[in-house]
Amino acid sequence: MLKEIIIKKIKKHGAIPFDEFMEMALYYPELGYYTKPDAKIGRQGDFFTASHLGSVFGFFLARQIEIFYQKLNCPKNFTVTEIGPGMGFLAKDILDNIDSSASIKYNLVEINPAFKKVQRERLKEHEDKIFWYSSIEQLESFSGLIICNEVFDALPVRIFEVNDSGQIMEVYVDIGEQEQLIEIFLPCRTDTLEYLQEFAPWVLKMKKYRSEVNLAMKSLIESLSKKLKKGYILIFDYGYTSEEYYHPDRNKGTLLCYYKHNINENPYINIGHQDMTAHVNFTAVEKLATMAGLKFEGYFSQGSYLISLCDEKIFQKIYQKNLKEHFKRLVLPQGMGESHRVMILSKD
Ligand SMILES: C[S@@+](CC[C@H](N)C(=O)[O-])C[C@H]1O[C@@H](n2cnc3c(N)ncnc32)[C@H](O)[C@@H]1O
Repeated sequence: MLKEIIIKKIKKHGAIPFDEFMEMALYYPELGYYTKPDAKIGRQGDFFTASHLGSVFGFFLARQIEIFYQKLNCPKNFTVTEIGPGMGFLAKDILDNIDSSASIKYNLVEINPAFKKVQRERLKEHEDKIFWYSSIEQLESFSGLIICNEVFDALPVRIFEVNDSGQIMEVYVDIGEQEQLIEIFLPCRTDTLEYLQEFAPWVLKMKKYRSEVNLAMKSLIESLSKKLKKGYILIFDYGYTSEEYYHPDRNKGTLLCYYKHNINENPYINIGHQDMTAHVNFTAVEKLATMAGLKFEGYFSQGSYLISLCDEKIFQKIYQKNLKEHFKRLVLPQGMGESHRVMILSKD
């Protein structure tokens, strides 16, 4: 069992930083939440994403792809690459709805063979356009578009705490007297501190403040940039700017766990069976993207972004297929319209 493997590792090497624990819980080969053979997203899983709301999200992204395709002068080898495509709903909805004159190739980067099987079944009709890769590194470089829907929030994060005396500590996972997993606090690693100095220097002066730092997204952004010759990247996720994320009132951070559509704040239960996620700091995404050679194009709430893509054709589809309620959930603030954001990046 995964918990025993983690305990064995701690016994052998000592306490591990929280991000290493989270990496194991989500991605340990065959046993992690996203790598196990029976992993599921959606009604039978633990949470939904925008791609599970009818086909509406796909209507909009198909339109967005047509726009990007034209902006790039309708190239012959326009490639859409979706990272972590889950159950394959978004890919299907995009390919079902895209204007057939936009001849595209669709790459899916999927680390879990079980998800790949579900995607293959769902995307049978489009098999001539689909190509699978088990890591970003395996992709050939291409021009077109990269889509990351709720991928960044699934990256392992570090947790820091500024204690009562104003010391900045990092959370490590250790073993308690009854062999249970416990948190201990060790001095912050240099790159965690550097991140905070850059993106949230004010938290260093606070007391009793806990939150997360996502350093894993640096290498993700760099590998995406390396593979994109020319085109766009769309990052959808729940997140904030640095000011919102590290607001003094948000003093417990954003880390949450999802188990059978219930939320809890305890990452040390249901290990490998519950999702673990933290909000995305879009200020950091923008900075890291620029450093990786990408251009910042815009940052919007999901609601205003989707509304800006609305046209008559999309409204007709929403009405004809009776998907008004799904549309509302995607764009209204009480649904995903405000909590979810989109960042558009590009490369010339
Ligand atoms: C929250 S799920 C979202 C799935 C899907 N995009 C959706 O909207 O339903 C996050 C997915 O991102 C994948 N993921 C995270 N990091 C990845 C990486 N470096 N390469 C490929 N997939 C990754 C995870 O394996 C997981 O399947």
